[in-house]
Amino acid sequence: MFAAMIRALVLLLVIISVTSALVVRTKKITGLDDHTVGNVRARMLDFSKKSWELGCATQALLELENSDISVYGDNPFPPGRVLATNSPIVAISRHVLATRPPKMLPLMEDGATGDPASMGIAVLLTGRALNNRTYASAVADQLVFLLAHAPRSHSGAISHRVEEVQLWNDFIYMGPPFIAYMGAIERNYTLLLEAKRQIGLYRDVLRDPRSGLWRHIVLGRWQEPSLWGTGIGWTAAGAVRVLQTIVKSDFAHALHSHLWELYGWTSELLTATWKYQHRNGAFSNHPTRKANYTFHDSSFTALLASATYRFAVQSGNLTLIPRADRAFEYVQSQIKWDGTLQNVVNVTYWNQKGRYSPEGQAFVLLMHSARRDFVEWQNSGKPPLMMGI
Ligand SMILES: *[C@@H]1O[C@H](CO)[C@@H](O)[C@H](O)[C@H]1NC(C)=O
Ligand SMILES: *[C@@H]1O[C@H](CO)[C@@H](O)[C@H](O)[C@H]1NC(C)=O
Ligand SMILES: *[C@@H]1O[C@H](CO)[C@@H](O)[C@H](O)[C@H]1NC(C)=O
Ligand SMILES: *[C@@H]1O[C@H](CO)[C@@H](O)[C@H](O)[C@H]1NC(C)=O
Ligand SMILES: *[C@@H]1O[C@H](CO)[C@@H](O)[C@H](O)[C@H]1NC(C)=O
Repeated sequence: MFAAMIRALVLLLVIISVTSALVVRTKKITGLDDHTVGNVRARMLDFSKKSWELGCATQALLELENSDISVYGDNPFPPGRVLATNSPIVAISRHVLATRPPKMLPLMEDGATGDPASMGIAVLLTGRALNNRTYASAVADQLVFLLAHAPRSHSGAISHRVEEVQLWNDFIYMGPPFIAYMGAIERNYTLLLEAKRQIGLYRDVLRDPRSGLWRHIVLGRWQEPSLWGTGIGWTAAGAVRVLQTIVKSDFAHALHSHLWELYGWTSELLTATWKYQHRNGAFSNHPTRKANYTFHDSSFTALLASATYRFAVQSGNLTLIPRADRAFEYVQSQIKWDGTLQNVVNVTYWNQKGRYSPEGQAFVLLMHSARRDFVEWQNSGKPPLMMGI
């Protein structure tokens, strides 16, 4: 009788501990459910029109549903398979080629040098899927434009603008990841090095020594030198993608010291930025400001979280993950029933709130995919990416 009671008690304790372990575990790995992801994705496709929005949307679709052939997957160089021809990445790239004016080097007509280049990877992968060489040749033209036609600063930084030399931190997500990707695909050391070098040249000009954050726009006829949130997010997310691309290329060891330098810049920026997170998990549109055009911006918050999950897999340093998880939960709470992310910055009027944000929709998917891959990496027991480099 007594023994039976003990057995029952032990069993009860086991059940309780297993259940609570499951609860803890579930909380840890719950991301966005499929229904929410589907709605966010649908609104992203509805809203995205501009060159950089389409570039960012296709990158989000790569990481979300073609992660094996994205730079964060196992099989990027050369891509282990082609895209399904019914992927919206293919539809967007077809549209870009169909509307591209003849004899033009960039993929899209634009006052920015970098923004059309953000479509380069999608167009290249589409050409493979359709087995049509026109796509690769358009991408080659885009690369020539960026490297040989776009104006450059005295130090050699590629201008983000076509009409004059002006550096925008947005460029770090638009130009260098494309240049690095071409370097990895074509097994071209010079291009991989150039991608990293551009980030350094931009950093020399844009980094604010006091905060460690990067300014938005300098040089040229006008400036916008504020420490604008989304621009800082573009920088961090672009830097981690270039780091990832170089590590996955054939030249990771040849570029060893450059990789570690880029790693240092990225770590510095992420560490400096997270200091400005609010208690509710959000960042402000201008993270360092107490007043003046400042509001909690779920768009920037999602982008910075995405870069942070990616960087944790690269570095193996989990210090910032609890912060990223709080940011994730904040962003999750800002998604409306139809998938629209709320409380976002207006993507062209940087001091105002927008009713919606095309890029913000993509940032949610980047954050979701990055967290999914982070959790998978953590459960796999694999070493961090930079181990052995
Ligand atoms: C390849 O793509 C280009 C641009 O969309 C198109 O004009 C051309 O007809 C395509 N070629 C073939 C063989 O499908
Ligand atoms: C690498 O790419 C650059 C720029 O496209 C080109 O000029 C150079 O010839 C390439 N190098 C090799 C080894 O293919
Ligand atoms: C881990 O990350 C934190 C936050 O970014 C940083 O302060 C710390 O120096 C890092 N630790 C190591 C060993 O790199
Ligand atoms: C607000 O912005 C204006 C113009 O940039 C500046 O002069 C002022 O000092 C700012 N105020 C605060 C509280 O940051
Ligand atoms: C962004 O601001 C401009 C100017 O105020 C406005 O016309 C536009 O509708 C805004 N966009 C969104 C999505 O709120």
